[in-house]
Amino acid sequence: MSELLLRDVTLPDGRAGVDVLVREGRIAAVGPALPAPEGIPAIDGRGWLLSPPFVDAHFHMDSTLSHGQPRVNASGTLLEGISLWGELKPLLTQEALVERALRYCDWAVARGLLAIRSHVDVCDPRLLAAEALLHVKERVAPYLELQLVAFPQDGVLRSPGALDNLKRALDMGVEVVGGIPHFERTMADGAESVRLLCELAAERGLRVDMHCDESDDPLSRHVETLAFHAHRLGLHGRVTGSHLTSMHSMDNYYVSKLLPLMAEAGLHAVANPLINIMLQGRHDTYPKRRGMTRVPELLAAGVNVGFGHDCVMDPWYPLGSGDMLEVAAMGLHVAQMGSVAGQRACFDAVTENNARILGLEGYGLAPGCRGDFVLLQARSCEEAVRLRPARLLVVRGGRVLARAPEQGVELDLPGRPSRVDFTLAPGAGATAPGGSAAPA
Ligand code: FE2
Repeated sequence: MSELLLRDVTLPDGRAGVDVLVREGRIAAVGPALPAPEGIPAIDGRGWLLSPPFVDAHFHMDSTLSHGQPRVNASGTLLEGISLWGELKPLLTQEALVERALRYCDWAVARGLLAIRSHVDVCDPRLLAAEALLHVKERVAPYLELQLVAFPQDGVLRSPGALDNLKRALDMGVEVVGGIPHFERTMADGAESVRLLCELAAERGLRVDMHCDESDDPLSRHVETLAFHAHRLGLHGRVTGSHLTSMHSMDNYYVSKLLPLMAEAGLHAVANPLINIMLQGRHDTYPKRRGMTRVPELLAAGVNVGFGHDCVMDPWYPLGSGDMLEVAAMGLHVAQMGSVAGQRACFDAVTENNARILGLEGYGLAPGCRGDFVLLQARSCEEAVRLRPARLLVVRGGRVLARAPEQGVELDLPGRPSRVDFTLAPGAGATAPGGSAAPA
């Protein structure tokens, strides 16, 4: 833990010219012109946006950076991705898993992403991936919080031995119960898997995060069962439905009944915009459905909605670099959330909403919170989503983990500013301070 005084930043609520003091790893004071305690280094934030770190509520670290191994996904579909992952699993080694995961964590830190919930496939009885990611969790703990979900990729009932493997993974220290009800053999098996996995989580005092209804089938309604058991077992605020893409295709009347049930159960919802727009609607000709779940409607119903990256360069998705602002920007487009409030909601979906899903302690920028934050070369959260700007400073517990120089382009135009960085001062034109002519 370190101490740090950050001068002159803008906060997500719009307050500008604010200083933030971190002592013993926690935020000790937030306000204008804080007195500088002796011996504490000060950094000039130059008015840029200070945000709590990005959080990813849905990721697969066991498959990340494996693109092309042992071959690429020719159809690009979810189902070919699952069978391709099945081909790769027997070839996995502990060393390769650890190496790929650590490399991704480096990328995450560089992007200001300091907490990740990753699913880990537990269908392989060797539990190689769980063992590797538990090791990685420990290795990265000083700089990144990695929360692991025991994920039965091939179905906890459909795949022989999967339930025992899942329980063994929990015994080893994997801390969240996963599931994939829409991949079980029948709707009835899917519902049964939700029941037994929620009961297992309740018995062990764990959270639940299920891949749920990742399908374009409007009759894939396991989220209703998930809400039912979350409510029945008193797991309010501890259960997440991930993907929920079938909700995109559901009948509107049914959704009008479903949304209040999800809110009543305190369910969290996670959309994975990059992956949903890439994988859903694959059986459509034209028009092609977008397939992402109903984000604005869920938020309006009082359901906490986060966005996940889900995949980076793996059997399902050949792109990505750990940038949660890319995720937010795609979510904004797919859900058509272009209003100022909508843009802000998309920023929240990769920061504080995800922190609630993971149950992170001390998340935020108020005094008493952990001294974790990212300084972005933007003037507001909306601008950060628009620009996906440089992460100038990434700090954890008051210790600087990463630094990047301010970005800009030198111009040589008659009678025009000499430099642009694409930012705008609030309410100002394109040539306002911060929008141009700022020294490098
Ligand atoms: Fe996933």
